[in-house]
Parts: sequence; C-alpha cells; structure tokens
Amino acid sequence: MILRRLRDTAADARAVQTVARAAFRHFYGTSRDSPDDHVLSTQQLARTRHLARADADGCWIAERDGATMGAALSLRREGVWILALFVVAPEAQGQGVGRLLLERATAYGRGCLRGMLCASASPAAARHYRRAGFTLHPAMTLRGAVDRAGLQDPGDIPVHPGNAGHRHLLDSVDRRLRGAAHGPDHAYMIDHYDELLIADSLAGSGYCYRHGGEVKLLGATSKRIATRLLREALARVPQGRPALVEHLTAEQEWAVDVGLELGLSLETHGWVALRGMRPPMPYVPNGGLL
Ligand SMILES: CC(C)(COP(=O)(O)OP(=O)(O)OC[C@H]1O[C@@H](n2cnc3c(N)ncnc32)[C@H](O)[C@@H]1OP(=O)(O)O)[C@@H](O)C(=O)NCCC(=O)NCCS
Repeated sequence: MILRRLRDTAADARAVQTVARAAFRHFYGTSRDSPDDHVLSTQQLARTRHLARADADGCWIAERDGATMGAALSLRREGVWILALFVVAPEAQGQGVGRLLLERATAYGRGCLRGMLCASASPAAARHYRRAGFTLHPAMTLRGAVDRAGLQDPGDIPVHPGNAGHRHLLDSVDRRLRGAAHGPDHAYMIDHYDELLIADSLAGSGYCYRHGGEVKLLGATSKRIATRLLREALARVPQGRPALVEHLTAEQEWAVDVGLELGLSLETHGWVALRGMRPPMPYVPNGGLL
C-alpha cells in the first residue's frame, strides 16, 4: 500500500468520492443519516479539488494495486487545522489504513494550536480523534419541514444577499469567533452554495450560507444577529424541501430554540471535535470546512 498526496484531477476527486460513498454506506446502511448522494456527487467533487489546490500537503490518499483504499483531507487556516474528510474503504477497514492516513493529515497541522472537525457517529473515528487530543462535543441535528406560520415577523435587523465583496466582514466575524478566517473557502462556498446572507448593522454583524434545505455555515457577533440570520435562512428553504441544520453543540441552544419554534425535530448525531479551543458561539460550523 502506498500513501500519496491528492492531485487536483477529476480522476482523484472521483476516487475520493467513490471511497467516501462506500465507507459511509457501509457505516450508515440505508438509514436517513446517510449523506445525500447528490451532495456527495456534485459538491464533494468540487470541494475535493478545491482542497487539492489550496492544501496539497494536507490531503492524502491510500492506494493498493492502483485502487483507492482511503483518504484523509485536511486544511490549515490561520493557525487552525481542520479535518475535512476521513474515510477507508469497507474492505480495508480495521487494518491500520485510517491510522496511517490520519498521521499524514495531522502532520500538516503541526504548529497549529487549534483543531476542528465534525465527526460522524463512527466509534472507530471517535477513538482516533480522542487519541489525537480532540475533545468530543456531542452534536445535535435539526431537520424537517419549516412551519411557516412561525415565520411571520419581518425581523428587526436587516438581512440581505452577500457576495465576494463582503469578504472583509466574513473574515472579521470568523476571526472573532474562531480566531481564524475561512480564507479561500469563502470563494468555494460563494460559487457552490445557493446563497450567502449578510446582516450588518449597529447591533452587530453576521453571515449565513444556505444550500437547498441546508444551513451550511453561520457565524455572528451576537445571538440576536445569529437568530435573525437562521430564521431568514430557514424562511428561504424552498417549499416542500426539508430543512437541515447540523453540528449543533449545547453552546448553540439559540439555534435549537429557533428550530424547535419552527417545527423542526431535534436528534443527536456525531460530534464536533475541537482541540485547543472552546466551541465558537454563536456558530453553526460547516461539516467539511468547519
Ligand atoms: C473511521 C475510519 C476512517 C477508520 O479507518 P480504519 O482504517 O478502519 O481505522 P484503523 O484500522 O486505523 O483503526 C481502527 C481503530 O478503531 C477501532 N474500532 C473499530 N471499530 C470500533 C468500534 N466499533 N468501537 C470502538 N473502536 C473501534 C479499532 O479497534 C482500531 O483501534 P486501534 O488502533 O486501537 O486498534 C473508517 O472506519 C471509516 O471509513 N468509517 C466510515 C466513515 C466515517 O465515519 N468516517 C469518519 C468521518 S468523521
């Protein structure tokens, strides 16, 4: 078996996608927690290539006889190391492939005092992360149809669509919340998600990405702004599409309260794993880019 850096090619992106799909299917079976195939096929290909370009030394794949056995993709942003993806093909699990991949990826984070990742419910993954020094924060998921009757107030804080011109605001909010901007990841998110919402007033600032029914990332300087942004994002979920807000630790009760008020159901799922930092708040992390 060899470990090599991921290349920014369609073939490598497809290989990572195939092994990720097989690993998650094997773990989740056909449960509804299994990531959506469409999301895996379009966004993940683009995100894999984005990381291969931006973080070549943090993205590794394992190969045996030319077949991809696993992948660990990680990124580094202003002193925070982030694990974006960690998967091993079902037939190769339990043989130490994951450990070798994670060693390479974590070496890229050497010198970063802080680390973040969103973990699946896999006990094997939790074992790896705890051993790597991460604190595991149990996470909640909100999902379901948005009760639009609960959305009738117009909102006192103005929210408007954002674009790449808001980069300074996004970076400022990120640095205040987690000590690091998302840097090039904003360009990726602006290109691949349906919309970016911005709130910027005397009361504070914040932003939120939404794609379809999913709230992909939200950060704000106060709970009041965060609540307003989350309500607006959920109001914009297309009719008939279920809403999904994931990776909520107990610190994000403001978000849990918004979801419950709008009729979403609350479940536990996986972990937000952090090293050298407390959960940012108010914040809804992005599963792969944190
Ligand atoms: C998590 C994953 C990448 C690990 O890869 P792997 O190659 O099987 O990992 P390794 O063989 O290096 O190590 C497995 C470790 O987990 C342990 N493990 C396996 N199943 C376990 C279980 N049910 N409970 C606790 N520990 C378990 C093994 O004992 C081993 O620990 P050890 O090093 O102390 O012996 C792989 O299981 C996977 O792809 N899972 C599905 C996708 C997923 O959930 N990925 C994580 C996303 S956050």
